[in-house]
Amino acid sequence: MSIHILAIESSCDETAASVISDGKVVNNIIATQDIHEKYGGVVPELASRVHQQNIVPVVTEAIKQANIKISDVNAVAFTRGPGLLGSLLVGVSFAKGLSLARNIPMIEVNHMQAHILAHFIDDPKPEFPFICLTVSGGHTQLVVVKDYLDMEIIGQTKDDAVGEAFDKAAKIMGLPYPGGPLIDKYAKEGDPEKYSFPPAEIPGLDFSFSGIKTAILYFLRDELKKNPEFINENLNDICAGIQQSLINMLMEKLRKAVKQTGIKRVALAGGVSANSGLRAALTSEAENKGWETFIPAFEYCTDNAGMIAMAAWYKYQANEFVDLSVSAEPRLKF
Ligand code: KG4
Ligand code: ZN
Repeated sequence: MSIHILAIESSCDETAASVISDGKVVNNIIATQDIHEKYGGVVPELASRVHQQNIVPVVTEAIKQANIKISDVNAVAFTRGPGLLGSLLVGVSFAKGLSLARNIPMIEVNHMQAHILAHFIDDPKPEFPFICLTVSGGHTQLVVVKDYLDMEIIGQTKDDAVGEAFDKAAKIMGLPYPGGPLIDKYAKEGDPEKYSFPPAEIPGLDFSFSGIKTAILYFLRDELKKNPEFINENLNDICAGIQQSLINMLMEKLRKAVKQTGIKRVALAGGVSANSGLRAALTSEAENKGWETFIPAFEYCTDNAGMIAMAAWYKYQANEFVDLSVSAEPRLKF
């Protein structure tokens, strides 16, 4: 008999559900919340309300597309954190309700670990140990992945996440939220050498991205004084310069991490791993240095429940279940 796990992701502004059957992710349903676009960022109160509206339709669709019934589900998994409390609570509460109603076990998943475990959904799968650079809207982490559920953070941001730096830079230029994909789009047509922003000097393997936001703000303020059309006339080059500066900071620490650990298997994870410039930079660095690289499919870069399902599968096999006393943890660590 097959084992089916239903997984739910609701940590930020995507309501997502996925079914994993016998270790194979069979679908990945996502409802994106467009409502935040006009506010220039995710509004937590609105996010939790929209999760509440979307969760039943999204789960229903995942069950339907997996060709099973809700009574066939053997366990329910959910993102416990990190994320927005109100958003996480919708997923946790739904999981508790289903667990009680169907008398099935619950599995808690750490969202950041799940981003990394997205590499095990499809081939090629990395061998252990590997280094993962996890880059999202809330986190920037260098992780040594020793096993499916054994990971160690060796570097992280001291302030903003790199996705946040992309989004804030875009906001300064008047672009809608989330600005990361738009900077990527305009950067493709621009000259990355024309404008550059100095990297933060942070020792070791940690990062800092709050300084670059201020540098961009002052740079644009000065240029706009001279020419009010500066952004419109140079958007592609400005985006290319910002993107390149952020990528340089990521790549510098990644090189350092490889040198320090001696691990030459390198993976990307998280929303910013969808960035075409970062993907290209890693690929070319790997060719030069003889690294083996793993870059997730676009579908599994940004928030999704397929990655939660994959993580849940390993926890199911390890008998790692939680009881009804579990609660959401916005600052969950691993
Ligand atoms: O992992 P994710 O979907 O959500 C979090 O867990 O935070 O990451 C979202 C972040 C946003 O900051 C978004 O702007 C960024 O990923 N992002 C990108 C691209 N696609 C998504 N940043 C740069 N280039 C992209 N193509
Ligand atoms: Zn994420």
